[in-house]
Amino acid sequence: MTDKSKQATWGGRFQDSPDDLMLAFGESVSFDQRLAPYDLQGSLGHASMLLAVGIIEQEEFVEIERGLKELAEEVKSGTFQWKTELEDVHMNLEQALRAKTAAADKLHTGRSRNDQVATDVRLFFKDACSQLKQGIERAMTALLSLAKKNATIPIPGYTHLQRAQPVTVGHHLLAYVEMLGRDHERFSSVANHANVCPLGSGAIAGSTLPLDRALVAKALGFVDESGEPRLTPNGMDAVADRDLFVEFASACSLCSLHLSRLAEDIILWNSSEFGYLTLPDAFTTGSSLMPQKKNPDCFELIRGKTGRVIGNLTNLMVTIKGLPLTYNRDLQEDKPPVFDSFEQLGICLAVTAGALDGAQIHEENCLSAASDPLLLATDLADYLVELGVPFRQAHHVVGSLVARSEELNLPLPELSDEDARSICPVIGNDWREVFDLSRAFARREKPGMPGPQQVAGRIKFWEGILQS
Ligand code: ARG
Repeated sequence: MTDKSKQATWGGRFQDSPDDLMLAFGESVSFDQRLAPYDLQGSLGHASMLLAVGIIEQEEFVEIERGLKELAEEVKSGTFQWKTELEDVHMNLEQALRAKTAAADKLHTGRSRNDQVATDVRLFFKDACSQLKQGIERAMTALLSLAKKNATIPIPGYTHLQRAQPVTVGHHLLAYVEMLGRDHERFSSVANHANVCPLGSGAIAGSTLPLDRALVAKALGFVDESGEPRLTPNGMDAVADRDLFVEFASACSLCSLHLSRLAEDIILWNSSEFGYLTLPDAFTTGSSLMPQKKNPDCFELIRGKTGRVIGNLTNLMVTIKGLPLTYNRDLQEDKPPVFDSFEQLGICLAVTAGALDGAQIHEENCLSAASDPLLLATDLADYLVELGVPFRQAHHVVGSLVARSEELNLPLPELSDEDARSICPVIGNDWREVFDLSRAFARREKPGMPGPQQVAGRIKFWEGILQS
């Protein structure tokens, strides 16, 4: 017999050991071993509660505590021997504890792997959200510093990827800072939802033993702002719901989407056609054939990995859809997608920050692209509105002026006053002033607009948040 005869924490009612194929198929330890620190933490909290309610003795608790701490060290240093035949992280750790102390046999009292794994992942999500929030802050800081350095440099804003109206580099980059700011909030909200203790739910229907749910919740830090324990209010919900997985994967997807759109903008800006920006050598790669190439692979990969992160969200929702209450083994498949989204988003945030830190904006190219007078055609319509022309008519008039300038093959501001007035008699002698970019920006000093003071104000706002 191989080791598999030993696997059976649940083997009492079985005559035969599982087939090797079933072991290989059913194991999750290859991926859920990353829950080990949380599983050990959860077990320690549970043991302290068992002690408090008199289910284990002080000596047994001390042995369990010592054993769990040793295991935590072994896991951390990589010396722990994971065994596939023991199925999952929970049974690996329980069996290893058993090898250290007979008291381990009492640890699983009043607990099921169902509420155990639900607890582990809640601890994981709290940690993962806090790590991703730090990653977001780092990316926001890089965006903000690039925005600040180039705050007032004009560039065309685009709709339909056609030049639309002038904005500034600062305003454009701050759009992404705002998006990442909301992503940051979303991870706080996921962490808050994770902050509820499922222990005591058992497999499905709790336990007949005198468990103290509040005590274990407090021991594990599942508390509100005033230190009151937060407990899941329905045990069936607690072991079967996977809302958190979906919320976490969804927050990861939205954040990845934002990074992906930023990536696309940067790839365009970095192209010879735009020439607004150059990426640092350290985050670009060359071609094996074409010696001149310097490719923005870092941002292409961010764009590519976003597909994978969104796929993880879809994967989870399809897995959960249609499952009857409560636990079904399908739910073991819930972990790889969230671990993957966590890792991929984490590295995407770090790469975004690193690449932006070394990015250079090319002021002349930006300015020359933003100096196309047609970008201010809307400002000319506004000018006419201020002279009393209804906007729809003003829009039409400017359209005719553009058509006339094209007919004469002249830039719009070079149309003569006579030509202009033949189309709209109220046009004054000052109509060309609208083509001054500084005027265009100075007139856009309302909240949310690209006026320099607005942009500076938002930079200050975010600097304050990120430094606090
Ligand atoms: N490895 C399992 C999972 O993550 C643990 C829960 C097992 N529960 C059970 N009733 N078989 O889903």
